Amino acid sequence: MKILITGVSGLLGVNLAQEAMIENEVIGVDRGKLTSAPYNILKLDLLNPGAVDSALDSARPNWLINCAALADLDACENTPYLARLMNTELPAQLAKACKTRGILFAHISTDAVFDGQKEGFYTEEDIPIPLGVYSQTKLAGEQAVLAENQNAIVARVNFYGWSLSGKRSLAEFFHHNLTHNKSMSGFTDVIFCPMLVNDTARTLLKMLKNELEGLYHLVGPQAMSKYQFGVEIARKFSLKESEVSPKSILSSNLTARRSHNLWLSVNKLSTDLGESLPEFSTGLNEFFTQYQQGYPQKIRGYQL
Ligand SMILES: NC(=O)c1ccc[n+]([C@@H]2O[C@H](COP(=O)([O-])OP(=O)(O)OC[C@H]3O[C@@H](n4cnc5c(N)ncnc54)[C@H](OP(=O)(O)O)[C@@H]3O)[C@@H](O)[C@H]2O)c1
Repeated sequence: MKILITGVSGLLGVNLAQEAMIENEVIGVDRGKLTSAPYNILKLDLLNPGAVDSALDSARPNWLINCAALADLDACENTPYLARLMNTELPAQLAKACKTRGILFAHISTDAVFDGQKEGFYTEEDIPIPLGVYSQTKLAGEQAVLAENQNAIVARVNFYGWSLSGKRSLAEFFHHNLTHNKSMSGFTDVIFCPMLVNDTARTLLKMLKNELEGLYHLVGPQAMSKYQFGVEIARKFSLKESEVSPKSILSSNLTARRSHNLWLSVNKLSTDLGESLPEFSTGLNEFFTQYQQGYPQKIRGYQL
């Protein structure tokens, strides 16, 4: 397959391209960060007039996976107009352009569309209540994509992994600080379902191969607090878990409001794929092996 990946310099994009290129031809859309990636790059700002049509007509892919977004929650609060363009209007435009051309389209959304007030897990049937600009514009993006293109996949994700900057994921923060003997606090009252980004990528590729359609939760099958996650990272890398201290999000000074409970059920996806989603422990083992084998340096070498 020929796969076009937007946001290929992002945490998901760069790892997805790495997984996709094993069996496919990959073309990434990038604004100029990637100078020596092992796949073709279309250098484009997707918000420029005509950029979407130009990308699709020159790449002529079978599949398009949209990983481009304004994904920083606080940046969304500060620039809501840009958040709407990137998280709502661009996905709608891509969905429509793919439908017209017969390209299978997968769009990435977020677990953060829920306000976290429910006890237990959320399914795809639960009504989202977004708490801030990021989640409002992402939810509007999901709805706009499915209105434009009923064959599209919309995947609500949460992932961690190695990024180009070394600072994009919570796992990298824990690892970096603990390695430098800096203590870290982890929220005990924020529950989420982290998945290794390479597992997210491989599962997305399976969803496209199986021609799934509609809304899916694509997160790790195990829920845990951010504090527990930090402890797991420390243990895996033989770092001091005592340097991870429990903290309540209520005592933090983050700009955007965060949900307390982002436990999402993956039952629909595992049923439709006919297999269980990768366990947290296998993902964490791979994250550690990647580190030992120089994977972070390898992907960082793709940029200037
Ligand atoms: N990280 C998580 O755990 C998480 C959780 C839930 C949902 N998600 C969702 O997963 C998706 C990927 O997230 P991520 O963490 O990989 O995000 P990221 O690291 O911030 O990457 C965003 C990507 O979008 C690109 N982009 C932004 N504006 C653009 C423009 N005008 N034209 C072309 N490209 C543009 C960025 O390019 P530059 O490098 O040039 O800025 C970057 O490649 C997003 O939809 C996000 O909402 C992520």
